Amino acid sequence: MTQIDHVHVPLGERAYDVVIGQGLLAQAGALIGPHLHRPRVAILTETRVAGLHLEALQAGLQRSDIVASAYALAPGEATKGWAGLAEAVEWLLDAKVERRDMVIALGGGVIGDLGGFAAAVLRRGVRFVQIPTSLLAQVDSSVGGKTGINTRHGKNLVGAFHQPSLVLADIDLLDSLPARDFLAGYGEVVKYGLLGDAAFFDWLEVNGPALARGDKALRQHAVRVSVEMKAGIVARDETEQGERALLNLGHTFCHALEAATGYSDRLLHGEGVAIGCALAFDLSARMGLCAQETPGRVRAHLRAMGMKTDLVDIPGDLPGHEALITLMGQDKKVQDGRLRFILAREIGAAFVCDDVPGALLGEILRDACAARR
Ligand code: GLY
Repeated sequence: MTQIDHVHVPLGERAYDVVIGQGLLAQAGALIGPHLHRPRVAILTETRVAGLHLEALQAGLQRSDIVASAYALAPGEATKGWAGLAEAVEWLLDAKVERRDMVIALGGGVIGDLGGFAAAVLRRGVRFVQIPTSLLAQVDSSVGGKTGINTRHGKNLVGAFHQPSLVLADIDLLDSLPARDFLAGYGEVVKYGLLGDAAFFDWLEVNGPALARGDKALRQHAVRVSVEMKAGIVARDETEQGERALLNLGHTFCHALEAATGYSDRLLHGEGVAIGCALAFDLSARMGLCAQETPGRVRAHLRAMGMKTDLVDIPGDLPGHEALITLMGQDKKVQDGRLRFILAREIGAAFVCDDVPGALLGEILRDACAARR
């Protein structure tokens, strides 16, 4: 059993800890109890996760005499919309959750974002605990307080910043992830090395394969380093006025590819992030910002991990490069009509760039699309 790590997110009166370790569900009552005004919680989850982990969480809460009611929504991205939000909020009201009570979001990014938003709007805001069950949620979406839902206009377009009171990242829960979902989450882990920590990227090159095979100590280290970096960025820029945008490395490309593949399982979000990171380094090299060999090094690691690295790896048809650029124009990060990219001077040195020449972007995507033929 590895030791338990605590990463503090220093946000004044909204500060909280991310607890990272094994066996945390069994200790949930002891960890969550001190945050409660009365010994009862309401758990929002989804049916697949409930089948795997709900009983263990309820037993962990029961051990500290905490009464837990639970509601499981349908799994999948489609739940993260107006209907899913209404279902969650009406259940929380049925369950008589009061203003000072605690909601627990048990699940991956969909449940974390939806459950957090339900907590943000219920009775004008109740507190919540994130218990992320996917690697992507443990290293990214459960930390930082971005909550929300999708609408027919796009992903995450309605939401609120609402920080959790506590995050429990139980490394054991990663054992139940299908390999493809684990690797998709690993795309976000690599992103942290690429955007701000070259030594962490070196470490991932050496340890990534063993980590993917299941080594718990390595998994915990990777989650801790990722969460530490995210906590630092969020503490300096909670509402994304500046530095937090670096967390979107690879995301402008990714969002266009997700839209082009209909948000289907042809491309998981973390897979799109990995491809997007490789393309962001291509663009950086083409603009003379980073060394010409750096994109190759990024791709070599992703390939060694068995991950998608290029448009050729996405099954089925894709629109041409001009249509992809149009899809990028619908991205949330467009400001004053300009596309915003996160580019890099080297591995671990990313920055925000608002003036990418359209012709170069076109070349990168035309080459990427041509490689599919
Ligand atoms: N997932 C990016 C952020 O939290 O800012």
